[in-house]
Amino acid sequence: MKQHVIIFEARGGSDKGAYGYRPDSKPIIDALANRGWSSEIIFYRDEDRGEIYCHACEKAGAYISRVNPGNLRDETGYFQMLRELVKRRVVGLPHPDAMINYGAKNAVEKLKGTDIVPQDVNCYYDFETFKSSFPESLMHGVRVAKQNRGSTGEGVWRVEALDGPTNGDGSYGLETQVKCTEAKDNHVEIMPLGDFIDYCVQYLDGEGGMILDMPFLERITEGEIRVFMLRNKVVNVVHKKPADAPDAFSATLFSGAKYTYETPDKWPGLVGIVSKNVSVIQQRLGNYDLPLIWTIDFILDTDKETGADKYVLGEINASCVGFSTHLELSDDIADEIVRLMEAEAVVNPNWMAFTS
Ligand SMILES: Nc1ncnc2c1ncn2[C@@H]1O[C@H](COP(=O)(O)OP(=O)(O)O)[C@@H](O)[C@H]1O
Ligand SMILES: [Mg+2]
Repeated sequence: MKQHVIIFEARGGSDKGAYGYRPDSKPIIDALANRGWSSEIIFYRDEDRGEIYCHACEKAGAYISRVNPGNLRDETGYFQMLRELVKRRVVGLPHPDAMINYGAKNAVEKLKGTDIVPQDVNCYYDFETFKSSFPESLMHGVRVAKQNRGSTGEGVWRVEALDGPTNGDGSYGLETQVKCTEAKDNHVEIMPLGDFIDYCVQYLDGEGGMILDMPFLERITEGEIRVFMLRNKVVNVVHKKPADAPDAFSATLFSGAKYTYETPDKWPGLVGIVSKNVSVIQQRLGNYDLPLIWTIDFILDTDKETGADKYVLGEINASCVGFSTHLELSDDIADEIVRLMEAEAVVNPNWMAFTS
């Protein structure tokens, strides 16, 4: 087993500290060094792909991907290289397709039928279906429509019908006035439903184009609850409360939300729900090994029958989760890497199975 880990980063972006590195990467390097492992940070660029690939094949037992896809012009080449590295038996933390599947907004829809996702959730991949289904969906109440890209509330819209249903069958016609609030900055726009639908065509463009459509959960005012995962363990909880303003529903820092960091023991119910669902999450999102560090965001809802609190999945992030507020986690991360690499070395899938 090669006791060397490569951390991939991308140059630029708002997640960087001194010298252009992520501030929470060096602590992983130090923690691995304390355990007798070496590691290095490599900035990925398409231009250097061949060289990086050869170097990683030769040197690395594992890689950790810490690239915000938004920081690459086009992530195709990067993901392709990671797929090839995994094929060459470099352990992928995580596998590129796990990163894509977990991070995509349709992860919520894929988990329909579990107790963390309401039945009333849809995902659209083409404009015609979106245009014919979204007005119907509004019949169920206020909705949130989310684009797949980005992670700053951009293209995440709360949509509320202002007029009564205009069609005879109780559905909303395209001329219905809707109030649209974007999570990026909580700004409000009022327009005909048909205009909003046409505006969203951009979110369906290209690879990974999709719109997730889910109920608006009004208890977002009590905050979004981010569960920070180290593989299958909850290690931290961040409680993000939207700004205290009339239309505010966004839990992003830019929009003025306030963050409180808490230990998992303050959230025993939530930790129980996550532990119960982690294997179904893994199965439904492609059955890859769980990412090394990832987050699951929840919003509170009330069970209509029992009146009990319910946690609803808002989104998962698995591509560039930071922990610069909790650098001590680097020790747990390094322990987990060593543990999983040692387990990997025992179960080598290249060995032939015994036959009698
Ligand atoms: N179903 C929902 N009900 C209420 N608020 C929501 C809902 N979904 C998302 N939000 C709010 O919108 C914000 C952005 O949505 P999110 O799914 O996290 O997308 P992004 O990738 O942009 O972070 C969340 O942080 C939350 O405050
Ligand atoms: Mg989010």
